[in-house]
Amino acid sequence: MERTLSIIKPDGVGRGLIGDVVKRLEASGLTILAMKMIHMTKTQAQGFYAVHRERPFFDSLTDFMSSGPAVVMVLEGENAIARYRELMGATNYKEAAEGTIRRDFATDIEKNVVHGSDAPETAAFEISYFFNAFEINPR
Ligand code: CMP
Repeated sequence: MERTLSIIKPDGVGRGLIGDVVKRLEASGLTILAMKMIHMTKTQAQGFYAVHRERPFFDSLTDFMSSGPAVVMVLEGENAIARYRELMGATNYKEAAEGTIRRDFATDIEKNVVHGSDAPETAAFEISYFFNAFEINPR
């Protein structure tokens, strides 16, 4: 079993896509162990995306991620990281496979509706960034 962090980004929340995303997650068989709405400060967004701090899009990305509420979730399942990345589709929605969340809903390479961890180590960091042990509900 594996856990991963999912974020419905401020564009997804603002456009009323929480239900669409959650429906796809549940239909896929991934289990939601934790879920809450947050509104990151710029500093919190910079900490979350610290791995990208040298990238040219870092300032814009952290402005966007702190621009409004987001929904953060802990997902669990066999190969949850890869399965959720498949549901999301490629970062660039123009390259995302048909039927993926980003292909169906994203409007921009930055405003791409959802985030998902890319490896077990990043999942552990990202989950602990938003959730403590009491907020995660094992099944
Ligand atoms: P995410 O999966 O959250 O990981 C890093 C984020 O940076 C990515 O989704 C996009 O929101 C953003 N991003 C990645 N590449 C670019 C890019 N070339 N230009 C702008 N934003 C990007």
